Amino acid sequence: VVIQWFPGHMSKARRQVQENLKHVDLVMELVDARLPLSSRNPMLDKIIGTKPRLVIINKKDLGDDLEIQKWVHYFEAQGILAVKINAKEQQTVKKLTKAAKEVLSEKLKRASERGIQNKAIRTMIIGIPNVGKSTLMNRLAGKKIAITGNKPGVTKGQQWLKTNEELEILDTPGILWPKFEDQRVGLKLALTGAIKDDLIPKDEITIFGLDFFKANYPTELQKRFKLTDEQMSLSAVDLIVLLTQKYGFRDDYDRFYDLFIKDVRDSKLGTYTLDRVSDLDKEDTQDDND
Ligand code: G4P
Repeated sequence: VVIQWFPGHMSKARRQVQENLKHVDLVMELVDARLPLSSRNPMLDKIIGTKPRLVIINKKDLGDDLEIQKWVHYFEAQGILAVKINAKEQQTVKKLTKAAKEVLSEKLKRASERGIQNKAIRTMIIGIPNVGKSTLMNRLAGKKIAITGNKPGVTKGQQWLKTNEELEILDTPGILWPKFEDQRVGLKLALTGAIKDDLIPKDEITIFGLDFFKANYPTELQKRFKLTDEQMSLSAVDLIVLLTQKYGFRDDYDRFYDLFIKDVRDSKLGTYTLDRVSDLDKEDTQDDND
């Protein structure tokens, strides 16, 4: 379910998260391995303040390993522990329990010195829609749970899901909005399927995607669409014309857009990460020029 965000939704969601934050020791911020930056909520730093945080880079099976590792270092440089997971895997439980303890190690040590021991860490999961919150909560709870509060603005009493002796999760995840005001971010979210298809024109998504794969994963693009070296130097628009004809879609470009976008989402062009740590400086400069 993709939520259409309105100012009213946003302030409700924010208030709900802030209310729930009071009850947790640690925030688990879930991001998508294909979009470790674009899938973050722009206000989260402000919202969670000084509350300890663990960044969880989910869907690692879909992301580019090398780039994910660069993001882990990026977060580390900001003093934030980041771990990469696949929420569908059983080993996620151990990994996150260990990471949660690591983030809170000082606090746990002090508590144990005061004689407080074996108290489970209470945590809540926060992330934009489709990032894998429900999947992860089911995994951590060890069962399929009905996440009734999985809508902004739906508040209810706090209930804790027990992962193990060391970890408990609030049964209501924090759902926040992505940075959709930035056009490039919108294109990235759309290409991975993180936002609804009708929010951004498909031709723009396809052009963005073709240019991105041409620049970053040319071999995969060439292989998938059986392109000659010469064709690889065509512009995105010329590639669209060429491939639409090659597939026998005549001039029905929409059919090629659908095919390409589905291919990318289904990892038919391999694993990929759209946000690049190496683009950060460039994007900063662009902002300065605005
Ligand atoms: P949300 O609560 O944050 O909105 O996300 P949710 O758990 O519903 O997950 C959104 C989609 O992402 C689901 O796919 C889910 O299976 C998938 N997903 C979650 N974690 C991972 C992961 O680590 N790796 C991969 N490959 N996929 C993941 P869906 O197509 O919407 O549903 P379904 O295929 O599970 O039926």
